[in-house]
Formats: sequence, structure tokens, C-alpha cells
Amino acid sequence: MRSVGARLAETGVTLERCEEAVVPLRPGRRAVLPDSLTVNPLFAESAEELTVPRFALPAGSMAPHTAYQLVHDEAMLDGNARLNLATFVTTWMEPAADQLYRETFDKNMIDKDEYPATAAIEARCVTMLADLWHAPEPRATIGTSTVGSSEACMLGGLALKRRWQLARRAAGAAAERPNLVMSSAVQVVWEKFANYWDVEPRYVPVTDEHPLLDGADIGHYVDENTIGVVAILGQTYTGAYEPVARIAAALDQLQADTGLDVPIHVDGASGGFVAPFLDPDLVWDFRLPRVASISTSGHKYGLVYPGIGWVVWRAAERLPEELIFKVSYLGGEMPTLAINFSRPGAQVLLQYYNFLRLGFDGYRRVQQACRDIAKHLSGAIGAMDEFEVVADGSELPVVAWKLAGATANPGGRWWDLHDLSNQLRERGWQVPAYPLPDDMAGTTVQRVVVRNGVSRDLADHLLDNIRSSVEYLRGLSAPLPRAGRQETAYHH
Ligand SMILES: Cc1ncc(COP(=O)(O)O)c(C=O)c1O
Repeated sequence: MRSVGARLAETGVTLERCEEAVVPLRPGRRAVLPDSLTVNPLFAESAEELTVPRFALPAGSMAPHTAYQLVHDEAMLDGNARLNLATFVTTWMEPAADQLYRETFDKNMIDKDEYPATAAIEARCVTMLADLWHAPEPRATIGTSTVGSSEACMLGGLALKRRWQLARRAAGAAAERPNLVMSSAVQVVWEKFANYWDVEPRYVPVTDEHPLLDGADIGHYVDENTIGVVAILGQTYTGAYEPVARIAAALDQLQADTGLDVPIHVDGASGGFVAPFLDPDLVWDFRLPRVASISTSGHKYGLVYPGIGWVVWRAAERLPEELIFKVSYLGGEMPTLAINFSRPGAQVLLQYYNFLRLGFDGYRRVQQACRDIAKHLSGAIGAMDEFEVVADGSELPVVAWKLAGATANPGGRWWDLHDLSNQLRERGWQVPAYPLPDDMAGTTVQRVVVRNGVSRDLADHLLDNIRSSVEYLRGLSAPLPRAGRQETAYHH
């Protein structure tokens, strides 16, 4: 097999430039890279521009097309979005949406005075989502767009914390030691929330017996300092839905036994835009009175370019008034709720575009196509002797698999899923391999996220590449060198 360096040399890209692109934050990296960046003489306007400093602001200016070419060329070193099967995030929208984006990328979401129409559209989208998620009175809900699910989760968590504090203080009880109960398989945003806002995270471990948070033994984790329970609709690791109705029923029982009334925030980063269309009978949303708030990523199965999330509370009183700030709006004041101040407004318009363009049936067809492809992939992968399917795409359109049989070299198997991931990477695919959390950390899985645009043809192409990679790996008579092997493939 040719080395990465040799293959890159053929493309004219130096390994050093590529490594810099891939690991810009690795300590010490800057020291080994040259201090200057060379400019192709074809693009430079003057001899002085033939090099520019890499790590300091250039002293002078350069022509727009020269700067464009430098940035454009470097950005080309990024991966191919179409072959990135690691991410849930949208990388393609249709030309009419691109046109709308180009026309609206200057809009600032916070500036309601200048952009009242965008503000009105945002409010309309919140109501549409509240309706989709079966809020008892969609027009009496409150919510906002955000930069993504992370900001939406932070706001959902903050509202839980503040509401709990107010209730505790009103009862003359201590309000200094809040905790939040969630699965140990939560996305990192919940660890951040707990860390940034001084809330004790109480992780319910995932085990072979309870691979999802399901309400079992919930009384062991919840007490009078619990601000809420997070339920994930579409676990990041496997795409499995946590059974929100069972968690709610366990909390109902706890309330009957102890009087503790603990609300649920549903982190529907991906599932919030999948379950309503594909699993209409699954009760996970505001149909459950205990669900206080729901967040989602507009930029995942909401099918908008990166930079948008949503959070909706079932009714205005679920969001403490003091978390709301007023901004100027047509000479008056408009309530806003956000961690950021200025942020792009175009994504909100793109979300509304999708709502109009696709409607319920359009979203259903897109998500169904993803689920069908996921099932096709899981069927084919499950049919291979090497693999055992862990997630077959029947909830989120996510396929995850592990190695079949014992992990340690059964019958002379000298490779693992990280090696397969690296093989696929060499063919351009990003298909991460990673250990499951916690008590299941002994199991490594590999995951494909099927997003809009992963066609049947692309899926078959991937299957061919998996088969040929496995064929190559089967031929090994000793393990591949482990030094420098990438084992922490990105997944989110
Ligand atoms: C369950 C869950 N919550 C939150 C997030 C964070 O989402 P975002 O990237 O939109 O901030 C993710 C991202 O994958 C996720 O899967």
C-alpha cells in the first residue's frame, strides 16, 4: 500500500499542509510549520506578496482575488462532505435555498428593529414546531431559534435550574446544590451544561441490561435537588430513542410515592425532526404532561445548513420571566432569550423555506428515504460474517455495528474497527469507530449516519468499499502498526 505522503505528493498537496489543516490545535504544531505562507506568483500582485506571515496579521493588504485564492485553496483540504458519514449536520441544500441564503446572509437575528419580518418568521417557526410536537396550545408556547442544539439545551437546562431555584426559595428550602439526571450516553453538551452552570450531573450508567435511560431505578438518582431529567430522542452513539413515555411514567410513580415533581427536557437534536414524521404514534413529546421543553437541531434532520437549533417550552410559565431580556423592536420592546447576542438570521429563513417547501409530507418522504437506506445498509452489513449490527436504522437513520465474536483475534483476525475506519478514510469516507460509554466501553462500534443525500447508489458504493477493505484486512498475517493510529474518530 502506498503511504499517505506518497499519495498526497501525487495530488501536489504536501503532508505538512494537510497535517496543519487536520491538527491545527495540536500543541507544538505551530513551531514546526514555516512562519510564512507562499503565494503562487500567478496570483500575487507584487513581489512582496509572494509570502505572507502564517501566524501574524500581515502588515499590508493584498488584492481580493489573491486572498480569495489562498483561503479557497486551503479550505479545499477539508474532507468531502458527501463522503462524511460521521455527522448529522446538513451539508447540502437545493439551489433555491442557496439563493435565499446568499440574499440574506447579512441579517442579524438580534436586530429585531431592522429585521422585523425575520423576527416574525422566527416566531412562526416556533409555533409550527410546538404544533408538530403536540403542545396543548401551540400559540401559547414560548421558544426561540438558537445557534444549534447546544445553545438550545443550555437554555432548556437553565430554565429547569431557575424554576427549581425559585420554587425552593419560595418554600424556604436550600437551593445551592442542583443536580440533573441523565444517561451516561448523553451528548457532550450536557456535560458542558453541568460544568458551566454549576449543576451536579447525575449519570445513569448504560449497561447491557439497560442500554438506554428507561426510568428503571430512577428514584435512586432523583432527589429534592433534581432540577429535571434529560431524555434523548436519538442517542448520538446508536441513534436509539430513549423511551420518554416510560421515563415519564417512572417519574409519575416517584411523584405519587414521594411528592417530588420532576420535569423532563427532551433533547431531540436529531429525533425532533424524525419521530414526528416517521413514528407519529410514538408518544415522546408535549403529549406527555411531564415534558416541559424540547430542543432540536434545525441543521440536522431539519435539513438547514449549520447554525440553527430550536427550543420550545410547553407553556410560557415553564420559562422563568427573569431569563428573558428585552431588545428594541419597532420603537417598542421585544422579549429575547439567547446566550449569544448577534448571530446570523439567514438560517431561520432557510428553516422557514424548508417548512414551506417540504411541508409535513415532504419531510416525511425525505426522512423515510433516509430510513430505507439505513435499513438497506444494516441488512447488508449484518449479512457479513465479520459484523453484528447494533443499530439497524429503524429509529434514527443510523447504522452501527460491532465485530462479531470475541474481540481478540478470533481465527487470526489481525484488525479491528479502527483499522477498517482508517481503510475507509483512505478511500475518502469518514466512518468513525468509537467505544460505547461507561459500563459498555468494552464494546467498540462503527457508525454511519444516513442523511439527506446519502443515496442508494452512494450506500452501495460504501458497501463495496467496506467489502474490499475487509478483504484486504483479512489478508493480514500480523497486526498493523498501532503507533500514530487514529483512534478517536470524530462522531457527534
Ligand atoms: C443528542 C444530541 N444533543 C445535542 C447535540 C449538539 O447539537 P449541535 O451540534 O446542534 O449543537 C447533538 C449533536 O450531535 C446530539 O446528538
